[in-house]
Amino acid sequence: MLADLKRVLYHESTILSRLDELAHQITWDYRDHELTVVAVLNGSFMFMGDLLRRIPLPLAVDCLSVASYVGDKSSGIVTFDQHTMPDIAGRDVLILDDILDSGRTLHAVRERLLAEKPKSVKICVLLRKHVERAKEVVADYVAFDIADEFVVGYGLDFIERYRNLPCIGVLSEDVIAAGLERIRKSEAAAVG
Ligand code: IMP
Ligand code: MG
Repeated sequence: MLADLKRVLYHESTILSRLDELAHQITWDYRDHELTVVAVLNGSFMFMGDLLRRIPLPLAVDCLSVASYVGDKSSGIVTFDQHTMPDIAGRDVLILDDILDSGRTLHAVRERLLAEKPKSVKICVLLRKHVERAKEVVADYVAFDIADEFVVGYGLDFIERYRNLPCIGVLSEDVIAAGLERIRKSEAAAVG
């Protein structure tokens, strides 16, 4: 899997020491608050585990399953897998996601959670991509700012692969092209 990367952006040790800082800040900001963390799956599963074990607060955790990506492009349509939302009325909510890209996912998640009447909603992302956003979203906590490149690892996937890489890296163009070709062929086969 490592061989498919064009380059590594952040090694595991770099990620973890940045999470130490972020967790420290969040712990301080949410002391004496009724915090509920809502993690957006699947991309944030590793980030969630490593960040939350560094936050010694009596918080609650919920997960949402949301999808908007097909291959290496955002489909523009955000779908929620569940019908019931976490019970967050009157609570301070911190949304966790792997990456802020077009902003569509986090915008939709935020709107959906606001309808449940929480006391406050803030956003924490592992990565913030330097792109023009389709939807205006402000991230309150950001581990790393990155350029507009397709990255994988540490929870982030390309066609459901690479999520278990312990580092974050830029996927090589050949691998992306080959993966997209595979999707194209299987779609063509499905149509008949
Ligand atoms: P947005 O709705 O365009 O902001 O995209 C958010 C979701 O798209 C993230 O939660 C990721 O699952 C996925 N995504 C965006 N950029 C990348 C990337 O560079 N690599 C892998 N997944 C990405
Ligand atoms: Mg994804």
